Amino acid sequence: MEHGKGKGQWGSQFGFLMAAIGSAVGLGNLWGFPYKLGKNGGFAFLIIYVLLVILVGVVMVLSELALGRKTGKGIVSAWTTVDKKYKPLGWFGVISPFLILFFYTMLGGYCVKYIVANLGDVFNASWGVAGADSGAYFQGFFTDQLQTSVYTLVFMGLTALIVLGGVSSGIEKFSKVAMPLLFFMLVAVIVRSVTMPGASEGIKFLFSPNWEVFKGTGWINVLASAGGQVFFSLSLGMGITVTYGSYLKKTESLQFNAFVIPFADTVIAIMAGLAIMPAVFASGLDPAAGPGLIFVTLQTVFASMGSVGPAFGAAFYFLVFIAAITSSIALLETVVAVIVDKKTEAGKPINRKAITVTSSLVIAVGAVFVSLDGLGSHGFPQIFGQGTWLDTFDLVAEGVLMPVSALLLGVIFGWFKPGYLDTEIELTGALKWKALYHLCLKVVAPLIMALVLYGQLVNFGIIPALF
Ligand code: PHE
Repeated sequence: MEHGKGKGQWGSQFGFLMAAIGSAVGLGNLWGFPYKLGKNGGFAFLIIYVLLVILVGVVMVLSELALGRKTGKGIVSAWTTVDKKYKPLGWFGVISPFLILFFYTMLGGYCVKYIVANLGDVFNASWGVAGADSGAYFQGFFTDQLQTSVYTLVFMGLTALIVLGGVSSGIEKFSKVAMPLLFFMLVAVIVRSVTMPGASEGIKFLFSPNWEVFKGTGWINVLASAGGQVFFSLSLGMGITVTYGSYLKKTESLQFNAFVIPFADTVIAIMAGLAIMPAVFASGLDPAAGPGLIFVTLQTVFASMGSVGPAFGAAFYFLVFIAAITSSIALLETVVAVIVDKKTEAGKPINRKAITVTSSLVIAVGAVFVSLDGLGSHGFPQIFGQGTWLDTFDLVAEGVLMPVSALLLGVIFGWFKPGYLDTEIELTGALKWKALYHLCLKVVAPLIMALVLYGQLVNFGIIPALF
Protein backbone atom coordinates (compact mmCIF):
# COMPACT_ATOMS: atom_id res chain seq x y z
CA MET A 1 0.00 0.00 0.00
CA GLU A 2 1.02 3.49 -0.73
CA HIS A 3 1.40 4.94 2.73
CA GLY A 4 0.53 3.56 6.06
CA LYS A 5 -1.52 0.44 6.36
CA GLY A 6 -4.16 0.20 3.70
CA LYS A 7 -4.32 3.93 3.22
CA GLY A 8 -3.75 5.41 -0.20
CA GLN A 9 -2.32 8.70 -1.36
CA TRP A 10 -2.64 10.63 -4.59
CA GLY A 11 0.44 10.47 -6.78
CA SER A 12 0.19 13.96 -8.23
CA GLN A 13 -1.75 17.19 -8.04
CA PHE A 14 -3.06 16.66 -11.56
CA GLY A 15 -4.13 13.12 -10.77
CA PHE A 16 -6.01 14.24 -7.67
CA LEU A 17 -7.74 17.01 -9.58
CA MET A 18 -8.84 14.66 -12.34
CA ALA A 19 -10.24 12.23 -9.78
CA ALA A 20 -11.96 14.97 -7.78
CA ILE A 21 -13.37 16.73 -10.84
CA GLY A 22 -14.43 13.31 -12.10
CA SER A 23 -16.33 12.68 -8.87
CA ALA A 24 -18.15 15.98 -9.28
CA VAL A 25 -18.83 15.80 -13.01
CA GLY A 26 -21.59 13.28 -13.45
CA LEU A 27 -25.07 12.78 -14.76
CA GLY A 28 -26.17 15.94 -12.95
CA ASN A 29 -23.96 18.08 -15.18
CA LEU A 30 -25.24 16.43 -18.33
CA TRP A 31 -28.91 15.88 -17.76
CA GLY A 32 -29.69 18.31 -14.95
CA PHE A 33 -27.85 21.56 -15.49
CA PRO A 34 -28.66 22.36 -19.15
CA TYR A 35 -32.40 22.07 -18.62
CA LYS A 36 -32.42 23.91 -15.31
CA LEU A 37 -30.38 26.70 -16.83
CA GLY A 38 -32.74 27.15 -19.76
CA LYS A 39 -35.94 26.79 -17.74
CA ASN A 40 -35.00 28.93 -14.78
CA GLY A 41 -33.95 32.14 -16.41
CA GLY A 42 -30.95 31.44 -18.64
CA PHE A 43 -28.23 33.97 -18.00
CA ALA A 44 -30.15 35.22 -14.95
CA PHE A 45 -29.96 31.72 -13.46
CA LEU A 46 -26.30 31.44 -14.38
CA ILE A 47 -25.42 34.50 -12.31
CA ILE A 48 -27.13 33.03 -9.24
CA TYR A 49 -25.54 29.67 -9.91
CA VAL A 50 -22.02 31.06 -10.13
CA LEU A 51 -22.57 33.12 -6.99
CA LEU A 52 -23.66 30.01 -5.11
CA VAL A 53 -20.74 28.03 -6.50
CA ILE A 54 -18.42 30.59 -4.91
CA LEU A 55 -20.25 31.25 -1.64
CA VAL A 56 -21.38 27.71 -0.96
CA GLY A 57 -19.56 25.39 -3.36
CA VAL A 58 -15.99 26.57 -2.84
CA VAL A 59 -16.55 27.01 0.90
CA MET A 60 -17.97 23.51 1.34
CA VAL A 61 -15.43 21.79 -0.89
CA LEU A 62 -12.65 23.55 1.02
CA SER A 63 -14.13 22.48 4.36
CA GLU A 64 -14.66 18.89 3.29
CA LEU A 65 -11.13 18.61 1.87
CA ALA A 66 -9.73 20.11 5.08
CA LEU A 67 -11.79 17.78 7.27
CA GLY A 68 -10.52 14.79 5.29
CA ARG A 69 -6.88 15.78 5.26
CA LYS A 70 -6.78 16.99 8.86
CA THR A 71 -8.16 13.72 10.19
CA GLY A 72 -6.69 11.49 7.48
CA LYS A 73 -9.88 9.46 7.69
CA GLY A 74 -12.98 8.47 5.78
CA ILE A 75 -16.28 10.11 6.65
CA VAL A 76 -17.28 8.17 9.80
CA SER A 77 -13.93 8.32 11.58
CA ALA A 78 -13.39 11.87 10.36
CA TRP A 79 -16.49 13.06 12.21
CA THR A 80 -15.70 11.00 15.31
CA THR A 81 -12.23 12.55 15.35
CA VAL A 82 -13.80 16.01 15.45
CA ASP A 83 -16.08 14.90 18.28
CA LYS A 84 -17.57 11.54 19.23
CA LYS A 85 -21.04 13.01 19.30
CA TYR A 86 -20.88 13.73 15.56
CA LYS A 87 -20.70 10.06 14.70
CA PRO A 88 -24.28 9.87 13.34
CA LEU A 89 -23.29 12.52 10.84
CA GLY A 90 -20.55 10.20 9.65
CA TRP A 91 -23.07 7.44 9.16
CA PHE A 92 -25.28 9.78 7.15
CA GLY A 93 -22.24 10.36 4.99
CA VAL A 94 -21.75 6.69 4.24
CA ILE A 95 -25.39 5.66 3.91
CA SER A 96 -25.88 8.23 1.14
CA PRO A 97 -23.22 6.83 -1.23
CA PHE A 98 -24.59 3.37 -0.60
CA LEU A 99 -28.12 4.35 -1.56
CA ILE A 100 -26.99 6.47 -4.48
CA LEU A 101 -24.93 3.61 -5.86
CA PHE A 102 -28.06 1.45 -5.90
CA PHE A 103 -29.42 3.54 -8.75
CA TYR A 104 -26.35 5.32 -10.11
CA THR A 105 -24.93 1.98 -11.21
CA MET A 106 -28.18 1.18 -12.98
CA LEU A 107 -28.03 4.47 -14.85
CA GLY A 108 -24.38 3.76 -15.66
CA GLY A 109 -25.57 0.41 -16.99
CA TYR A 110 -28.00 2.27 -19.27
CA CYS A 111 -24.99 4.13 -20.71
CA VAL A 112 -23.16 0.88 -21.39
CA LYS A 113 -26.26 -0.46 -23.13
CA TYR A 114 -26.47 2.63 -25.36
CA ILE A 115 -22.79 2.46 -26.25
CA VAL A 116 -23.30 -1.14 -27.28
CA ALA A 117 -26.54 -0.42 -29.17
CA ASN A 118 -25.05 2.48 -31.13
CA LEU A 119 -21.97 0.43 -31.93
CA GLY A 120 -24.39 -2.22 -33.12
CA ASP A 121 -25.72 0.30 -35.64
CA VAL A 122 -22.20 1.21 -36.72
CA PHE A 123 -21.67 -2.45 -37.68
CA ASN A 124 -25.23 -3.02 -38.84
CA ALA A 125 -25.51 -5.74 -36.24
CA SER A 126 -28.72 -7.23 -34.92
CA TRP A 127 -28.18 -5.64 -31.49
CA GLY A 128 -28.39 -2.09 -32.82
CA VAL A 129 -31.20 0.41 -32.35
CA ALA A 130 -31.83 0.03 -36.09
CA GLY A 131 -34.18 2.90 -36.67
CA ALA A 132 -36.55 1.98 -33.82
CA ASP A 133 -38.56 4.77 -32.25
CA SER A 134 -36.30 6.09 -29.46
CA GLY A 135 -39.05 6.31 -26.88
CA ALA A 136 -40.28 2.78 -27.53
CA TYR A 137 -36.72 1.48 -27.63
CA PHE A 138 -35.91 2.98 -24.23
CA GLN A 139 -39.15 1.68 -22.77
CA GLY A 140 -38.38 -1.77 -24.14
CA PHE A 141 -34.97 -1.66 -22.50
CA PHE A 142 -35.74 -0.37 -19.03
CA THR A 143 -38.67 -2.73 -18.61
CA ASP A 144 -36.48 -5.69 -19.58
CA GLN A 145 -35.44 -6.92 -16.13
CA LEU A 146 -32.78 -9.34 -17.23
CA GLN A 147 -31.05 -6.95 -19.59
CA THR A 148 -31.03 -3.99 -17.21
CA SER A 149 -29.79 -6.18 -14.36
CA VAL A 150 -26.94 -7.51 -16.49
CA TYR A 151 -25.86 -4.06 -17.66
CA THR A 152 -26.10 -2.76 -14.10
CA LEU A 153 -23.84 -5.56 -12.93
CA VAL A 154 -21.38 -4.84 -15.74
CA PHE A 155 -21.19 -1.22 -14.67
CA MET A 156 -20.86 -2.18 -10.99
CA GLY A 157 -18.12 -4.64 -11.93
CA LEU A 158 -16.17 -1.99 -13.84
CA THR A 159 -16.52 0.41 -10.92
CA ALA A 160 -15.23 -2.26 -8.54
CA LEU A 161 -12.31 -3.11 -10.85
CA ILE A 162 -11.05 0.46 -10.83
CA VAL A 163 -11.43 0.82 -7.07
CA LEU A 164 -9.68 -2.53 -6.60
CA GLY A 165 -6.63 -0.95 -8.24
CA GLY A 166 -6.30 1.36 -5.22
CA VAL A 167 -6.25 5.12 -4.83
CA SER A 168 -3.30 6.10 -7.02
CA SER A 169 -2.94 3.08 -9.26
CA GLY A 170 -6.67 2.57 -9.76
CA ILE A 171 -8.81 5.68 -9.34
CA GLU A 172 -6.13 8.23 -10.15
CA LYS A 173 -4.69 6.37 -13.09
CA PHE A 174 -8.12 5.89 -14.64
CA SER A 175 -9.24 9.49 -14.05
CA LYS A 176 -6.05 10.92 -15.55
CA VAL A 177 -6.92 9.37 -18.87
CA ALA A 178 -10.72 9.43 -18.70
CA MET A 179 -11.29 13.05 -17.72
CA PRO A 180 -9.19 14.67 -20.46
CA LEU A 181 -10.88 12.28 -22.89
CA LEU A 182 -14.29 13.39 -21.64
CA PHE A 183 -13.26 17.00 -22.13
CA PHE A 184 -12.09 16.55 -25.71
CA MET A 185 -15.11 14.48 -26.65
CA LEU A 186 -17.33 17.18 -25.20
CA VAL A 187 -15.56 19.77 -27.34
CA ALA A 188 -16.12 17.61 -30.42
CA VAL A 189 -19.82 17.20 -29.63
CA ILE A 190 -20.17 20.96 -29.07
CA VAL A 191 -18.60 21.71 -32.44
CA ARG A 192 -21.09 19.41 -34.15
CA SER A 193 -24.05 20.57 -32.10
CA VAL A 194 -23.63 24.32 -32.54
CA THR A 195 -23.03 24.00 -36.27
CA MET A 196 -26.33 22.21 -36.92
CA PRO A 197 -28.84 24.40 -38.78
CA GLY A 198 -31.20 25.92 -36.25
CA ALA A 199 -28.76 25.45 -33.37
CA SER A 200 -29.05 29.08 -32.31
CA GLU A 201 -32.49 28.42 -30.81
CA GLY A 202 -30.80 26.09 -28.32
CA ILE A 203 -28.23 28.70 -27.42
CA LYS A 204 -31.03 31.21 -26.90
CA PHE A 205 -32.85 28.72 -24.67
CA LEU A 206 -29.73 28.28 -22.55
CA PHE A 207 -28.53 31.83 -22.16
CA SER A 208 -31.09 34.50 -23.04
CA PRO A 209 -31.81 36.13 -19.71
CA ASN A 210 -35.32 35.92 -18.37
CA TRP A 211 -35.57 38.09 -15.27
CA GLU A 212 -39.26 37.25 -14.92
CA VAL A 213 -38.38 34.11 -12.98
CA PHE A 214 -37.32 36.28 -10.02
CA LYS A 215 -40.69 38.07 -9.76
CA GLY A 216 -42.64 37.86 -6.51
CA THR A 217 -41.43 34.87 -4.57
CA GLY A 218 -40.01 33.32 -7.74
CA TRP A 219 -36.47 34.14 -6.62
CA ILE A 220 -36.83 31.70 -3.72
CA ASN A 221 -37.50 28.87 -6.14
CA VAL A 222 -34.62 29.92 -8.38
CA LEU A 223 -32.32 30.02 -5.38
CA ALA A 224 -33.51 26.60 -4.20
CA SER A 225 -33.10 25.13 -7.65
CA ALA A 226 -29.65 26.65 -8.23
CA GLY A 227 -28.56 25.69 -4.71
CA GLY A 228 -29.77 22.14 -5.24
CA GLN A 229 -27.88 21.87 -8.49
CA VAL A 230 -24.62 23.27 -7.00
CA PHE A 231 -24.89 20.91 -4.09
CA PHE A 232 -25.65 17.79 -6.11
CA SER A 233 -23.17 18.60 -8.83
CA LEU A 234 -20.33 19.03 -6.35
CA SER A 235 -21.37 15.83 -4.53
CA LEU A 236 -21.50 17.73 -1.24
CA GLY A 237 -22.87 16.50 2.05
CA MET A 238 -21.52 13.01 1.78
CA GLY A 239 -18.15 11.47 2.33
CA ILE A 240 -16.72 11.82 -1.17
CA THR A 241 -14.72 15.02 -0.89
CA VAL A 242 -13.72 14.24 2.68
CA THR A 243 -12.42 10.84 1.58
CA TYR A 244 -10.56 12.21 -1.43
CA GLY A 245 -9.15 14.96 0.79
CA SER A 246 -7.82 12.38 3.23
CA TYR A 247 -5.47 11.06 0.51
CA LEU A 248 -3.97 14.50 -0.16
CA LYS A 249 -0.40 15.32 0.77
CA LYS A 250 0.07 17.98 3.42
CA THR A 251 2.00 20.06 0.90
CA GLU A 252 -0.97 20.48 -1.44
CA SER A 253 -2.85 23.76 -1.34
CA LEU A 254 -6.41 23.05 -0.28
CA GLN A 255 -7.51 26.52 -1.32
CA PHE A 256 -6.25 26.06 -4.85
CA ASN A 257 -7.99 22.71 -5.21
CA ALA A 258 -11.19 24.03 -3.66
CA PHE A 259 -11.36 26.68 -6.39
CA VAL A 260 -10.37 24.52 -9.31
CA ILE A 261 -12.84 21.68 -8.65
CA PRO A 262 -16.03 23.81 -8.59
CA PHE A 263 -14.71 25.95 -11.45
CA ALA A 264 -14.09 22.93 -13.67
CA ASP A 265 -17.41 21.38 -12.70
CA THR A 266 -19.23 24.56 -13.70
CA VAL A 267 -17.35 24.89 -16.98
CA ILE A 268 -18.21 21.31 -17.88
CA ALA A 269 -21.87 21.84 -16.97
CA ILE A 270 -22.04 24.86 -19.28
CA MET A 271 -20.23 22.91 -21.99
CA ALA A 272 -22.77 20.11 -21.56
CA GLY A 273 -25.51 22.65 -22.21
CA LEU A 274 -23.77 23.73 -25.42
CA ALA A 275 -23.30 20.13 -26.46
CA ILE A 276 -26.90 19.11 -25.88
CA MET A 277 -29.44 21.92 -26.28
CA PRO A 278 -28.41 23.30 -29.71
CA ALA A 279 -28.69 19.78 -31.17
CA VAL A 280 -32.05 19.21 -29.46
CA PHE A 281 -33.49 22.45 -30.85
CA ALA A 282 -31.92 21.97 -34.27
CA SER A 283 -33.69 18.61 -34.45
CA GLY A 284 -36.99 20.24 -33.59
CA LEU A 285 -37.29 18.42 -30.26
CA ASP A 286 -38.38 19.70 -26.88
CA PRO A 287 -35.77 20.29 -24.22
CA ALA A 288 -36.02 17.97 -21.26
CA ALA A 289 -34.10 16.73 -18.24
CA GLY A 290 -33.26 13.36 -16.78
CA PRO A 291 -33.03 9.95 -18.43
CA GLY A 292 -35.57 10.99 -21.07
CA LEU A 293 -33.20 13.68 -22.34
CA ILE A 294 -30.18 11.41 -22.60
CA PHE A 295 -31.76 8.15 -23.71
CA VAL A 296 -34.75 9.29 -25.75
CA THR A 297 -34.28 12.85 -27.01
CA LEU A 298 -30.58 12.56 -27.79
CA GLN A 299 -30.94 9.10 -29.29
CA THR A 300 -33.50 10.69 -31.63
CA VAL A 301 -30.93 13.36 -32.51
CA PHE A 302 -28.30 10.72 -33.33
CA ALA A 303 -30.77 8.71 -35.36
CA SER A 304 -31.54 11.78 -37.44
CA MET A 305 -27.88 12.51 -38.17
CA GLY A 306 -27.63 9.97 -40.95
CA SER A 307 -24.65 7.70 -41.41
CA VAL A 308 -22.42 9.39 -38.81
CA GLY A 309 -25.19 9.20 -36.20
CA PRO A 310 -24.39 5.82 -34.64
CA ALA A 311 -20.65 6.50 -34.31
CA PHE A 312 -21.45 9.89 -32.86
CA GLY A 313 -23.99 8.33 -30.54
CA ALA A 314 -21.56 5.66 -29.33
CA ALA A 315 -18.94 8.33 -28.62
CA PHE A 316 -21.46 10.48 -26.78
CA TYR A 317 -22.71 7.65 -24.58
CA PHE A 318 -19.09 6.79 -23.85
CA LEU A 319 -18.67 10.34 -22.62
CA VAL A 320 -21.73 9.99 -20.38
CA PHE A 321 -20.33 6.66 -19.18
CA ILE A 322 -17.06 8.31 -18.14
CA ALA A 323 -18.94 11.05 -16.30
CA ALA A 324 -20.95 8.40 -14.47
CA ILE A 325 -18.15 5.99 -13.62
CA THR A 326 -15.77 8.62 -12.25
CA SER A 327 -18.62 9.50 -9.85
CA SER A 328 -19.45 5.91 -8.97
CA ILE A 329 -15.83 5.04 -8.16
CA ALA A 330 -15.80 7.99 -5.76
CA LEU A 331 -18.99 6.70 -4.15
CA LEU A 332 -17.56 3.21 -3.75
CA GLU A 333 -14.23 4.50 -2.43
CA THR A 334 -16.12 6.46 0.23
CA VAL A 335 -17.70 3.25 1.47
CA VAL A 336 -14.43 1.30 1.29
CA ALA A 337 -12.55 4.01 3.22
CA VAL A 338 -15.00 3.79 6.10
CA ILE A 339 -14.48 0.05 6.46
CA VAL A 340 -10.69 0.38 6.12
CA ASP A 341 -10.79 2.90 9.00
CA LYS A 342 -12.94 0.61 11.13
CA LYS A 343 -10.50 -2.27 10.68
CA THR A 344 -7.55 0.00 11.36
CA GLU A 345 -9.12 1.26 14.57
CA ALA A 346 -9.92 -2.28 15.67
CA GLY A 347 -6.31 -3.23 15.04
CA LYS A 348 -7.38 -5.84 12.51
CA PRO A 349 -5.47 -6.66 9.34
CA ILE A 350 -6.64 -4.70 6.34
CA ASN A 351 -7.42 -6.35 3.08
CA ARG A 352 -8.56 -3.50 0.86
CA LYS A 353 -9.36 -5.83 -1.98
CA ALA A 354 -11.64 -8.03 0.12
CA ILE A 355 -13.36 -4.94 1.50
CA THR A 356 -13.91 -3.60 -2.00
CA VAL A 357 -15.30 -6.88 -3.29
CA THR A 358 -17.64 -7.35 -0.32
CA SER A 359 -18.98 -3.80 -0.48
CA SER A 360 -19.48 -4.13 -4.22
CA LEU A 361 -21.42 -7.34 -3.81
CA VAL A 362 -23.75 -5.79 -1.26
CA ILE A 363 -24.29 -2.77 -3.48
CA ALA A 364 -24.84 -5.04 -6.48
CA VAL A 365 -27.75 -6.71 -4.70
CA GLY A 366 -29.41 -3.34 -4.08
CA ALA A 367 -28.67 -2.25 -7.63
CA VAL A 368 -30.27 -5.37 -9.08
CA PHE A 369 -33.42 -4.71 -7.04
CA VAL A 370 -33.58 -1.19 -8.44
CA SER A 371 -33.07 -2.62 -11.94
CA LEU A 372 -35.83 -5.18 -11.44
CA ASP A 373 -38.20 -2.36 -10.51
CA GLY A 374 -37.63 -1.05 -14.06
CA LEU A 375 -38.33 2.58 -13.16
CA GLY A 376 -41.55 1.53 -11.49
CA SER A 377 -42.86 -0.36 -14.52
CA HIS A 378 -43.47 -3.72 -12.84
CA GLY A 379 -45.98 -2.79 -10.17
CA PHE A 380 -43.56 -3.28 -7.26
CA PRO A 381 -44.82 -1.84 -3.98
CA GLN A 382 -43.73 1.77 -3.60
CA ILE A 383 -43.28 3.85 -0.49
CA PHE A 384 -43.22 7.54 0.49
CA GLY A 385 -45.47 8.28 -2.48
CA GLN A 386 -42.60 7.74 -4.93
CA GLY A 387 -43.17 6.10 -8.30
CA THR A 388 -39.89 4.21 -8.58
CA TRP A 389 -37.37 2.62 -6.25
CA LEU A 390 -34.80 4.90 -7.77
CA ASP A 391 -36.76 7.90 -6.50
CA THR A 392 -37.20 6.36 -3.07
CA PHE A 393 -33.47 5.85 -2.55
CA ASP A 394 -32.80 9.22 -4.07
CA LEU A 395 -35.30 10.83 -1.70
CA VAL A 396 -33.54 9.43 1.36
CA ALA A 397 -30.04 10.33 0.14
CA GLU A 398 -30.31 13.44 -1.97
CA GLY A 399 -33.60 14.61 -0.52
CA VAL A 400 -32.79 14.33 3.16
CA LEU A 401 -29.43 12.94 4.33
CA MET A 402 -27.17 14.94 2.03
CA PRO A 403 -28.68 18.41 2.53
CA VAL A 404 -28.95 17.80 6.28
CA SER A 405 -25.28 16.71 6.42
CA ALA A 406 -24.14 19.73 4.43
CA LEU A 407 -26.25 22.04 6.59
CA LEU A 408 -24.79 20.58 9.78
CA LEU A 409 -21.25 20.79 8.43
CA GLY A 410 -21.76 24.54 8.02
CA VAL A 411 -23.32 24.87 11.47
CA ILE A 412 -20.62 22.81 13.20
CA PHE A 413 -17.60 24.49 11.64
CA GLY A 414 -19.32 27.87 11.64
CA TRP A 415 -20.69 27.94 15.20
CA PHE A 416 -19.54 25.02 17.35
CA LYS A 417 -15.99 24.46 16.18
CA PRO A 418 -15.06 27.69 14.47
CA GLY A 419 -11.49 27.70 13.32
CA TYR A 420 -11.15 23.92 13.61
CA LEU A 421 -10.29 23.59 9.94
CA ASP A 422 -8.36 26.84 9.56
CA THR A 423 -4.98 25.50 10.65
CA GLU A 424 -5.24 22.71 8.11
CA ILE A 425 -6.21 25.09 5.34
CA GLU A 426 -3.39 27.47 6.27
CA LEU A 427 -0.67 24.83 6.17
CA THR A 428 0.20 25.99 2.69
CA GLY A 429 -0.58 29.69 2.94
CA ALA A 430 -2.81 32.24 4.63
CA LEU A 431 -6.57 32.12 4.22
CA LYS A 432 -6.86 35.71 3.06
CA TRP A 433 -10.64 35.66 2.91
CA LYS A 434 -11.09 34.15 6.37
CA ALA A 435 -13.88 36.50 7.44
CA LEU A 436 -15.90 35.72 4.33
CA TYR A 437 -15.17 32.00 4.69
CA HIS A 438 -16.52 32.00 8.24
CA LEU A 439 -19.53 34.09 7.31
CA CYS A 440 -20.38 31.62 4.55
CA LEU A 441 -20.00 28.65 6.87
CA LYS A 442 -22.04 30.29 9.61
CA VAL A 443 -24.85 31.87 7.65
CA VAL A 444 -24.86 31.54 3.88
CA ALA A 445 -24.25 27.80 3.51
CA PRO A 446 -26.73 26.71 6.22
CA LEU A 447 -29.41 29.03 4.84
CA ILE A 448 -28.93 27.80 1.30
CA MET A 449 -28.83 24.20 2.48
CA ALA A 450 -32.08 24.70 4.40
CA LEU A 451 -33.58 26.08 1.21
CA VAL A 452 -32.21 23.13 -0.75
CA LEU A 453 -33.74 20.75 1.78
CA TYR A 454 -37.06 22.52 1.38
CA GLY A 455 -36.78 22.42 -2.42
CA GLN A 456 -35.95 18.72 -2.40
CA LEU A 457 -38.88 17.84 -0.16
CA VAL A 458 -41.20 19.80 -2.43
CA ASN A 459 -39.78 18.11 -5.53
CA PHE A 460 -40.21 14.68 -4.03
CA GLY A 461 -43.80 15.56 -3.10
CA ILE A 462 -43.21 15.17 0.65
CA ILE A 463 -44.31 18.69 1.54
CA PRO A 464 -46.43 21.19 -0.42
CA ALA A 465 -44.76 24.18 -2.07
CA LEU A 466 -44.96 27.28 0.09
CA PHE A 467 -44.10 29.74 -2.65
N1 PHE B 1 -22.00 15.05 -8.74
C1 PHE B 1 -22.57 14.02 -9.54
C2 PHE B 1 -23.28 14.61 -10.71
O1 PHE B 1 -23.24 15.79 -10.98
C3 PHE B 1 -23.60 13.24 -8.88
C4 PHE B 1 -23.25 12.65 -7.60
C5 PHE B 1 -23.81 13.13 -6.46
C6 PHE B 1 -22.38 11.65 -7.59
C7 PHE B 1 -23.49 12.60 -5.31
C8 PHE B 1 -22.05 11.13 -6.43
C9 PHE B 1 -22.61 11.60 -5.29
O2 PHE B 1 -23.93 13.89 -11.43
